[in-house]
Amino acid sequence: MKSDRDAARDYFDRLAPEYDRAFAGEGSGLLAAGVNRFFRGPTFARRMRALESLFREIGLSGRAVLDLGCGSGQVSLLAASLGARVRGIDIAPGMLDIAREAARRAGLADRVRFEEGDAAGEGPLPPADLTLLVGVLEYYEDFAPLLRRAAAVTRERLVVAHTTRVWYRMILRRLLFRGAGARVYFHRQRDVIAAAQAAGLRLEQERSEQAFHLLLFRRA
Ligand SMILES: C[S@@+](CC[C@H](N)C(=O)[O-])C[C@H]1O[C@@H](n2cnc3c(N)ncnc32)[C@H](O)[C@@H]1O
Repeated sequence: MKSDRDAARDYFDRLAPEYDRAFAGEGSGLLAAGVNRFFRGPTFARRMRALESLFREIGLSGRAVLDLGCGSGQVSLLAASLGARVRGIDIAPGMLDIAREAARRAGLADRVRFEEGDAAGEGPLPPADLTLLVGVLEYYEDFAPLLRRAAAVTRERLVVAHTTRVWYRMILRRLLFRGAGARVYFHRQRDVIAAAQAAGLRLEQERSEQAFHLLLFRRA
């Protein structure tokens, strides 16, 4: 059986051409179009708004940001547009192609660098003032090693965004992932907080909406 890491890489590499469309609320096929319009699109928009408000509160000007599992680069570009120097790392090359093109189009290519890498593996990760793990823990049954690695390179703060355990969303998402031959896990908020605390961080702020939790940690 594939590891969670290989399953995530294969799934997101396949999904890459559709990823941004999904979060714009569009999609090919009736089911995908409906799910993207009523769930993924609105959730993504709300999560971006919550992240922007958090980033503005923290103040990113001149800060080094590490976006682990950067995907198509939307959150990296948001951080770069607020003045950060960003390194985005992702395991799926197809996602990185889209992220690089998006950076060029946004005129932010000089502030953000996208690289292929494995946030859950053993290779070195660059240190950062602020590390991001947005929508990544859900693809790992055992998410603690990922969190430990992120915490180890964090000089000041870590932001974690992960999916809530709302029952109908869990059922829908599980069905969609199973249909795509992929895996998704729904972690308890208290387990994520406990793992971050065990990795030397303390919880500074917690914002929850129906579909996602946003956690801000600080080096203890
Ligand atoms: C749901 S997407 C989130 C992308 C982005 N953070 C966002 O919020 O738009 C999850 C991303 O995590 C990446 N990923 C999963 N496991 C990874 C790992 N071990 N190392 C680096 N990236 C990983 C996937 O390839 C995918 O692009």
